[in-house]
Amino acid sequence: MFFTNSMVNCDNMLVTTKHLFDHCYGKYAIPAVNVSFMEQTLALFSAAEKANAPFIVQTTPASRDYAKADMLVSIIKAAARLYPKTVFALHMDHGNEQHIVDALQKGDYTSVMIDASHDPFVTNIERTKAVVAQAHSKGVNVEAELGVLAGVEDDLSVDEAHAFYTNPNEVEVFVKATNCDSLAIAVGTSHGAYKFSGGQGLQFAILEEIQERLPGFPLVLHGGSAVNYEEINRINAAGGQLQASAKGVDPAEVKKAISYGICKVNLATDFRLLWTRVNREFFSEQPDQFAPMIPGKVYMDEYEKTMLHKFDLLNATGMAKG
Ligand code: 13P
Ligand code: ZN
Repeated sequence: MFFTNSMVNCDNMLVTTKHLFDHCYGKYAIPAVNVSFMEQTLALFSAAEKANAPFIVQTTPASRDYAKADMLVSIIKAAARLYPKTVFALHMDHGNEQHIVDALQKGDYTSVMIDASHDPFVTNIERTKAVVAQAHSKGVNVEAELGVLAGVEDDLSVDEAHAFYTNPNEVEVFVKATNCDSLAIAVGTSHGAYKFSGGQGLQFAILEEIQERLPGFPLVLHGGSAVNYEEINRINAAGGQLQASAKGVDPAEVKKAISYGICKVNLATDFRLLWTRVNREFFSEQPDQFAPMIPGKVYMDEYEKTMLHKFDLLNATGMAKG
């Protein structure tokens, strides 16, 4: 069941991201969802089985520290057994060399991201190339990044002054030199709930140029959350103090990006906002309650509904077997 890279005659498969991207390029995109606790993991697998949709389950170095790596991966493996028809990759999001060594050690991950995007171009190439050699020797795919996203993602924080778009002139050389399997690019999104402070959207002209230079090569969109304004309003109505400037990516733009080679859309913030809304509303409406399982169940139900919408948005529903 676990650790197979073949999709032939086998239910419940852990596959490589390359396998998923070979099937989806230009037609649909794979949601790559960060999980840090049990309720998120169960609801993600449950939704994927219902939608018959492929997905990528992601952990960050921070979530591996929080839940303890062994516990978090065990939860993911248990969810895979409970939902035996799911087809997914297990990916390490935003890792450095040490995180990747740790993740590769037990052979659980089928894909890792080396995030050397803050380094100069040549250093990014050197670091990525070394990780690729190591990961490929174990049959694991590598996502690299060129360009820098603003925003906050777990323990990664970049202010807008230090963010920059991917330079299309660099992508071909980078991919050739590193032999990476997919490329995360900076085309206007940022991490967290406060994207597009200037009201700008995705930079399709840059995306188009990147695709022209890397035809057929899988591109990755970080910062893919929609940050639904209704959620923000509900959180604030139930006592939250999120800023009115909260803004995400227009779902129509995410859909449009699929035809430009975006194969993987990273999602974390939308499911954090959902957790905040569910718990704030639950405890303000029922202040006498104190049992975590009751709002926990509400969160899983709401998570599943949201996830089903995400699969639809990315045209991934029904595509578990390509
Ligand atoms: P969001 O903050 O938009 O959910 O992006 C998550 C992400 O890129 C994880 O790597
Ligand atoms: Zn990211």
